[in-house]
Amino acid sequence: MSSYTSRWTIADALKVHADDPTTTMPVIAQDFPTMDESVMIWDTGALRNIHGQTVTFKGWHIIWSLAVDKIDLTNADIYDEWHSRNNRAYIGYWYSRTGNGADWQWGGRPLNTSADLRPHEWSGGLVMREGTGNVVDMFYTSEADSPVNQSVPSVSSGQIFADENGVWFGGFETTTEMFSADGIHNANSQQDEYFDFRDPHPFINPADGRLYCLYESNVAGMRGDFVIGSDEQGALPPGFEVGSGAQYGAASIGIAVLADGAYKKGDFSGQNWTQLDPLVSALGVNDQMERPHIVFKDGLTYLFTISHHSTYSGNLGGPDGVYGFVSEKGLFGPYKPLNASGLVLGNPSAAPYQTYSHFVDPAGYVQAFIDTLPGVGEYPNNPATFRIGATLAPTVKIELDGDRTFLTEVHGYGQVYAQAAWPVGAAWDKRPAN
Ligand code: FRU
Repeated sequence: MSSYTSRWTIADALKVHADDPTTTMPVIAQDFPTMDESVMIWDTGALRNIHGQTVTFKGWHIIWSLAVDKIDLTNADIYDEWHSRNNRAYIGYWYSRTGNGADWQWGGRPLNTSADLRPHEWSGGLVMREGTGNVVDMFYTSEADSPVNQSVPSVSSGQIFADENGVWFGGFETTTEMFSADGIHNANSQQDEYFDFRDPHPFINPADGRLYCLYESNVAGMRGDFVIGSDEQGALPPGFEVGSGAQYGAASIGIAVLADGAYKKGDFSGQNWTQLDPLVSALGVNDQMERPHIVFKDGLTYLFTISHHSTYSGNLGGPDGVYGFVSEKGLFGPYKPLNASGLVLGNPSAAPYQTYSHFVDPAGYVQAFIDTLPGVGEYPNNPATFRIGATLAPTVKIELDGDRTFLTEVHGYGQVYAQAAWPVGAAWDKRPAN
């Protein structure tokens, strides 16, 4: 384990360009279908194994989504309901025989109220526990915004069941907090009142068989006090001046490792985790790298994360979308930005808020949700001229080619592809797990 933090530099980010057709989401049609009129959903992920493969369970495709129940089914208040969704968010699930996007059935909320530590559930993952028949761990962010901003990567465990009529869950009666922002490896609420510390993404590193967890974080230190030096700047063009406010960009991709033996026992409690130095820092570039996730392919390690135009700092910019980094030397880097810039798939400038929360699976399928499509005229302030999605976007496919990525295919709305069936014997059953 090393403690080297790679950088996304200002010079890298100057290479970000919207509307490159190889790194831009196709424009989504205004008449997209809605999965269910009674819920609004956004961040979504498929049931997977701890090695990252999307799995089916007894022939069913299963996905989880951040969700709110619609209050006004006529959509009269959709703008306000959508924009206040974080304050009512819970995790719900869907199941489908085909995964082709047209027949997702809403299953409701797996967690029992006895598991509630805080009022909101934000992103995480739904992961089959290796070595078990039907134990499933729901990693999520337990969140409250008062009396202070609290955001704790957490896990609740239960069982998954299915028959020919559908899929349901049992258990999920308690929640275990995994780790907190420590002010050393990442900023805590005293250092940065807007600190980000969420979106746990656990996985087994094939090189050492150990279980690690990625998460969204900020660089440790007082907000606004960072010095943006030559390491953060990179090789800048002549005459380039670092924009004022660059030091407010302090995103990082955090990582912790689980103690040996703890995964087999399903013990994810705090004393079993050790936080390490972040894998990537965007100091001087951007203040948010959300939902970090990982793909191991062709001996390379790909790190993906989502970010916003609005969180770039110091006059930098780039589309909302998924960004990425690649390492030739395994999990601990060094990482360099994919496509030289870091941009993997951004929204087209004609529809800058059309999708978000892209998640790249090991086969290169990218799933995202529809946020807001522009209509004719004024955007985004006039409700008559846009359409809010709150449903899944068309799935697209990218090709990972060394340190470059290419958009190659567009599929159906909410289409999910599984790489394996659970639990019948597959290659990963034989890999070591701690
Ligand atoms: C990404 C995100 C996550 C967070 C969730 C809250 O869209 O901001 O970082 O867990 O949404 O809604």
